[in-house]
Amino acid sequence: MWLKVLTVFFPFIAGVCSGLKVTVPSHTVHGIRGQALYLPVHYGFHTPASGIQIIWLFERSHMMPKYLLGSVNESVVPDLEYQHKFTMMPPNASLLINPLQFTDEGNYIVKVNIQGNGTLSSSQKIQVTVDDPVMKPVVQFHPPSGAVEYVGNITLTCQVEGGTRLVYQWRKNGKPVCSNSNHSFSPQNNTLRIVPVTKEDIGNYSCLVSNPVSEMESDIIMPTIYYGPYGLQVNSDKGLKVGEVFTVDLGEAILFDCSADSYPPNTYSWIRRSDNTTYVIKHGPRLEVASEKVAQKTTDYVCCAYNNVTGRRDETHFTIIITSVGLEKLAQKGKSLSPLASITGISLFLIISMCLLFLWKKYQPYKDQSQNTEKLKPFQAMKMLWVTSEYMNLWLFQMHLVFPGCQVGLPQPLMV
Ligand SMILES: *[C@@H]1O[C@H](CO)[C@@H](O)[C@H](O)[C@H]1NC(C)=O
Ligand SMILES: *[C@@H]1O[C@H](CO)[C@@H](O)[C@H](O)[C@H]1NC(C)=O
Ligand SMILES: *[C@@H]1O[C@H](CO)[C@@H](O)[C@H](O)[C@H]1NC(C)=O
Ligand SMILES: *[C@@H]1O[C@H](CO)[C@@H](O)[C@H](O)[C@H]1NC(C)=O
Ligand SMILES: *[C@@H]1O[C@H](CO)[C@@H](O)[C@H](O)[C@H]1NC(C)=O
Ligand SMILES: *[C@@H]1O[C@H](CO)[C@@H](O)[C@H](O)[C@H]1NC(C)=O
Ligand SMILES: *[C@@H]1O[C@H](CO)[C@@H](O)[C@H](O)[C@H]1NC(C)=O
Ligand SMILES: *[C@@H]1O[C@H](CO)[C@@H](O)[C@H](O)[C@H]1NC(C)=O
Repeated sequence: MWLKVLTVFFPFIAGVCSGLKVTVPSHTVHGIRGQALYLPVHYGFHTPASGIQIIWLFERSHMMPKYLLGSVNESVVPDLEYQHKFTMMPPNASLLINPLQFTDEGNYIVKVNIQGNGTLSSSQKIQVTVDDPVMKPVVQFHPPSGAVEYVGNITLTCQVEGGTRLVYQWRKNGKPVCSNSNHSFSPQNNTLRIVPVTKEDIGNYSCLVSNPVSEMESDIIMPTIYYGPYGLQVNSDKGLKVGEVFTVDLGEAILFDCSADSYPPNTYSWIRRSDNTTYVIKHGPRLEVASEKVAQKTTDYVCCAYNNVTGRRDETHFTIIITSVGLEKLAQKGKSLSPLASITGISLFLIISMCLLFLWKKYQPYKDQSQNTEKLKPFQAMKMLWVTSEYMNLWLFQMHLVFPGCQVGLPQPLMV
């Protein structure tokens, strides 16, 4: 049954195939000025032919179509005006234009006529553009000395010596730059303005210029953007760091390193604070502290970072506590209470005195017991004292947290 259907339809299919069909691979062809351009054309038919005629016409907007050349069988009849420019080798209908000029831009129409049982005729149109290839672009940025973030602006300009119908694209780290609140383009896109510039704008910029026949990318350019300091922090080669407190064992030397992200690199200075006065003790990113040379057990330091181009500075405060091994925990707790240190000290002294008195009185009646018990008494007294002071510490610490008002009137950290 299927065979029957096929047989019925076959003559119809064959009838379609016997018609003339002219095809072109592309309806738009981009040519380069001064070079040869080949316009390929294919045609086919399934009918006896007594003659094949091929005609090429050229049309441009607002102009009469022009006859370029034609052929019957294998003889070509050119328009004498263009005979050196257009070549065709019938029965091949493809056209060669050499050399291509800007004036050759327009539509090319090919018409094929087949003389047989009647005349079959078909045509196609090809649009031809003519361009000069793009030359390598050069990017310049202004100001050449660079810009300070949030203050300065940067303008990148893409310059191309040669090329037609140029399309500009800006790229940052290989990806297209989008226009947004601080990135804007000129109408042609050949200028990129960054207003104001930020640290995020640091990157490898290039300009990609293309036209229908070529594309070229500029060298990568890295605009100078001054920023920072950001993320200032102090680290040490050894010693324990808890928040902004470093504990260092007595007898050890500790090396501190101050760092912050900035361009150009910061200048660093170190400041020591003691007795309400401050001293600049060193310039440079590193500081060595020998614990023996520190007069006090607890000393406050400041590392100051300054960017001399952005004019911005940052500082971080930290405390060094000289400890004996094992007492670190206590030292830290002591530090967290430092604004209340005076109160704590006085309170502790009073409590210790009272406890001592109490204990003294309590153990007095057993005065004439054995040597061993006698030795234990001061130890127990010490233990009780210790527990009391720990409780006291904790209580004061909580009070400090819950009632910030307690801080009023206490010595405030001195700003440098
Ligand atoms: C073209 O060629 C065909 C056979 O190939 C011939 O019959 C016909 O006369 C030719 N036409 C002309 C104009 O030369
Ligand atoms: C037409 O000629 C060109 C060379 O000039 C050739 O590349 C092409 O294949 C030919 N086309 C046909 C249909 O013969
Ligand atoms: C020519 O075409 C006519 C009508 O299209 C058809 O009747 C005739 O058979 C054809 N002749 C040949 C030789 O193909
Ligand atoms: C940056 O651009 C803004 C807006 O165009 C302008 O007001 C400002 O003066 C410019 N800053 C510099 C440093 O050129
Ligand atoms: C920019 O280019 C430099 C070298 O040309 C390269 O070292 C750097 O990683 C690039 N940066 C980015 C963000 O791609
Ligand atoms: C400029 O670039 C933007 C985005 O990159 C694009 O949308 C726009 O069409 C371009 N304009 C021109 C004239 O090339
Ligand atoms: C600490 O400095 C402040 C402000 O400079 C000053 O008012 C205060 O008297 C100083 N205290 C001592 C003990 O020097
Ligand atoms: C800024 O500091 C650098 C050192 O980090 C120095 O080389 C430079 O001369 C300074 N510039 C100015 C304007 O002070």
